[in-house]
Amino acid sequence: MPDALSRREFLGVTGAVVAAGHLAPPETLAAPALILRPASRPMAVSSLNGLRGINLAMEMVQRGSDTLDAAVEAVKIQELDPEDQSVGYGGLPNEDGVVQLDASCMHGPTRRAGAVGALENIKTPSAVARLVLKYTNHIMLVGEGAKRFAISYGFKEEDLLTPSSRELWLRWRANRGATDDWLDVPAGEKMVERPTGTINFNIVDGKGDISSVTTTSGLAWKIPGRVGDSPIVGAGQYTDNEIGAAGSTGRGESNIMVCGGFLTVEFMRQGMSPTDACLATLKRVVAMTPDRLMLPDGTPNFGLTFYAVNKKGEAGAASMRPTRYAVFDGKEAVARDTAYLYPRAK
Ligand code: GLY
Repeated sequence: MPDALSRREFLGVTGAVVAAGHLAPPETLAAPALILRPASRPMAVSSLNGLRGINLAMEMVQRGSDTLDAAVEAVKIQELDPEDQSVGYGGLPNEDGVVQLDASCMHGPTRRAGAVGALENIKTPSAVARLVLKYTNHIMLVGEGAKRFAISYGFKEEDLLTPSSRELWLRWRANRGATDDWLDVPAGEKMVERPTGTINFNIVDGKGDISSVTTTSGLAWKIPGRVGDSPIVGAGQYTDNEIGAAGSTGRGESNIMVCGGFLTVEFMRQGMSPTDACLATLKRVVAMTPDRLMLPDGTPNFGLTFYAVNKKGEAGAASMRPTRYAVFDGKEAVARDTAYLYPRAK
């Protein structure tokens, strides 16, 4: 794979650390220096739509793949699945009926990041974000430039609307305003709410190397050009190879206001467990939420979930209201209940 992070690159980073004097040269290397870095328990945690991806990614890292390559392959399962209308191919479009995709990733061992925003006609934005990380001196490419960049690496331009996602958009457009010229969908026929699905994926391998990826088609029916938290490094996802990784799904604007991926990793740095760190970030979100986004009972009217893994291989997730997430249980991916701040809305 031309875009996979090669073993040589990984070794190159290790070599640079030696050259910078962080490790003794090989001839004087005392045995304890090599065992200072404790083994980690391989672990992955993601939004619930990452169940299949966790199984693939854990197999990959157990065979020696790099954590970022494993994470990107995991989320690509959803990006390429026309039934997942929250990401990639088949994702719900903006108000003009155009699918615009956002993604970002971080690679802990090399301390690098890549992202794309408002990318059109390319099914797998996570893989494009990884190319930005690997081959450029930049972190984020957007719009037409991001598309031209992807095409230069051989990605195919494709129509991302499936018949089903187009149908949902047409129904939303028909019912959009009471005084427009579109005839309303008859009462009782299927309409969808305004979902903000996404996949966030965080992984640590047995060496303690960590990566994270988030990819999305964003808020359905969004204003063209809107990007949410997913492509924002530090909001949609963040990795610090010494501490852990975290990311989110849900109302992106509310996450951007607290830099939630970064903040959750910082809470873990202070000693919190992954679950407690996610809860602490949610409390910060609530503190930053304006009245117009509050229900009459004083709780937020939107959903937001954080997922986190630490370097030891402990994982957790927390959401505004109860939901489910996906996590590796040592053998396979399982669904678990999130911790939460408020009971399910009545
Ligand atoms: N969290 C996905 C979005 O707001 O676009």
